[in-house]
Amino acid sequence: MIAWEKIDRVNIPGQEQEITLQKRGEEFSIRTAGVELMNSRAHGSEEELARLTCIRLTHRAALRILIGGLGMGFTLASALKHTAKDSKIIVSELIPAVILWNREYLGHLSGMPLDDPRVQVKQEDVAKTIRNKKLCWDAILLDVDNGPEGLTQKENNSLYSSSGLKAAFWALRPGGILSVWSAGENEAFTLSLRQCGFHTEKKTVRARNSQKGGMHTLWFAQKPKSALSPQSFQESLPFNKSARPAKA
Ligand SMILES: C[S@@+](CC[C@H](N)C(=O)[O-])C[C@H]1O[C@@H](n2cnc3c(N)ncnc32)[C@H](O)[C@@H]1O
Repeated sequence: MIAWEKIDRVNIPGQEQEITLQKRGEEFSIRTAGVELMNSRAHGSEEELARLTCIRLTHRAALRILIGGLGMGFTLASALKHTAKDSKIIVSELIPAVILWNREYLGHLSGMPLDDPRVQVKQEDVAKTIRNKKLCWDAILLDVDNGPEGLTQKENNSLYSSSGLKAAFWALRPGGILSVWSAGENEAFTLSLRQCGFHTEKKTVRARNSQKGGMHTLWFAQKPKSALSPQSFQESLPFNKSARPAKA
């Protein structure tokens, strides 16, 4: 058996916690806190996250897609494969070293997706990217932890909280989709998505591109096409000051 070789080890920005890149023969692994975040031999469900999102949006032109985070680039490569030439894909990646690893060691695994002119990669917390823009995205794809619980950093819990899901709701265009990857089931998360106004579909898919082996869970949460804009939503609230007639 070939031993794992540590290629790089860095601290997660603002955390004590480390993230490492390791290699064993042709296989690569990204790990944090003793847990594997991504392995180059199992990427079927990461690709399905993007493919199953894109096929739900084929009726739209010039798709704008946000992916958080980059990992080994399999979700990004799949999004590129399943969207047209006029799409634009932003990838928000928290850890600068992960972007460097993709350029130096990992790019070939998924066909060098960072070289595609439709892609822009940002070193930024995806929670910030989401909150920065309203009515911007046709799809937001989240695969930053091993499910809807902060693993890479505990602050990621906010992405899956009610306020984080509402931020994603307002960042999406009407009919847009929030897609979330998870290693396992989470009924409470399905409920949270529904409570935030999403029409929610859940699918279990194979971890690898094969008929056998483990299963992962994907959520596709669609913002209703009829959803109000954030401004008209505020104005529709019964006690909103701006909705009251001005005093004479
Ligand atoms: C499981 S990997 C993603 C795997 C990826 N889907 C693929 O196809 O290879 C998780 C990635 O999310 C990044 N990440 C974690 N928290 C993040 C955050 N808050 N914002 C942006 N990226 C984050 C990690 O550094 C890591 O690169």
